[in-house]
Amino acid sequence: MTNYDQLFQSAMIEIEKSDSVECIDKVRIKFFGKNGLINQELRQLINLEKDKKIENGKILNNFKNKFFDILQKKKSEIENEHTSREINKEFFDPSMPIRKESLQVATIHPITQTIEEVVSILGSMGLEFVEGPDVEDDFHNFTALNIPSNHPARQMHDTFYLENDCKKMNVLRTHTSPVQIRTLMTKQLPVRIFAPGRTYRCDSDMTHTPMFHQVEGLVVDKNINFANLKWFLNKFCQLFFKKDSLRLRFRPSFFPFTEPSAEVDINCGFKNKKLVLGEGDEWMEILGCGMVHPNVFKACNIKKEGYGAFAFGMGVERMAMLKYGMSDLRNFFDGDLGWLRHYGFNFLDQPDLNWD
Ligand code: PHE
Repeated sequence: MTNYDQLFQSAMIEIEKSDSVECIDKVRIKFFGKNGLINQELRQLINLEKDKKIENGKILNNFKNKFFDILQKKKSEIENEHTSREINKEFFDPSMPIRKESLQVATIHPITQTIEEVVSILGSMGLEFVEGPDVEDDFHNFTALNIPSNHPARQMHDTFYLENDCKKMNVLRTHTSPVQIRTLMTKQLPVRIFAPGRTYRCDSDMTHTPMFHQVEGLVVDKNINFANLKWFLNKFCQLFFKKDSLRLRFRPSFFPFTEPSAEVDINCGFKNKKLVLGEGDEWMEILGCGMVHPNVFKACNIKKEGYGAFAFGMGVERMAMLKYGMSDLRNFFDGDLGWLRHYGFNFLDQPDLNWD
């Protein structure tokens, strides 16, 4: 009877003695390499009788499994030891001050922050948040808003047209006013909503970008009149700009979907060449507004009876620039980290509402 005990024992001892991955590899080759000691034994089996062949074959194969099991364990042990030795070598001092670069955490984009502020103010004033699609059809973006087909806003230089399958022109909405139409056509009166979102116009220079943001407001209720609109926007602007002394000027203007229409300016002045809002006698335009035109209600199949309605629309970037002092609109979309770190907001900068 062949006794493999000694061979097996020496294999085990050699694994146990190994202290590096290279050593482990050498042991593997010594016993199970092409000419390895145990492989030689396996090859010898051919010369044995059938029963013996089976018996010894089993013993050798069992050992092979055990050998590779133990070899793998030893290898992981060696690797783990190596890793912890490397870690321990590194000097770690928890009392050291943090590096300045590691303090640069992500910031909230000024547009997101400004929309958040507007959302919480208009929400606190009783308006409900709604949204509309960026891709609009001609009816919602123009026709229902009393914008006739020869209106300049429809011309190619202003509007991004999209062609769809049924040859009907869709557009990237040029303003958030189509949300007024969607609201009037689906909700029961009274409605008090606001709708922030992206808008698109084919225009690009220091004061225009092809994509920008607006917030639309619509209030339809019994006996709503222009005085309500003035009070509302006054309150909103004072809360948004955090200035009780802020004065508003309503300048007659024209929008096809409101009558009368106005553009709203806020007062400002310059101190040491710096713009100061709410002080001084200069005016800065901030938004458009008016009383909803009867044709808008007609297009939505609504009988107004006793209801009045005002609407307003403002540019988010413009509001942000005035409040936080950025000078070039294009920077909002450049992705310049320096700019974003300078003008970005902390996650905890929640708008505080002072209603007194
Ligand atoms: N939709 C207008 C614009 O984009 C703004 C506006 C909205 C004006 C609502 C009046 C009423 O300029």
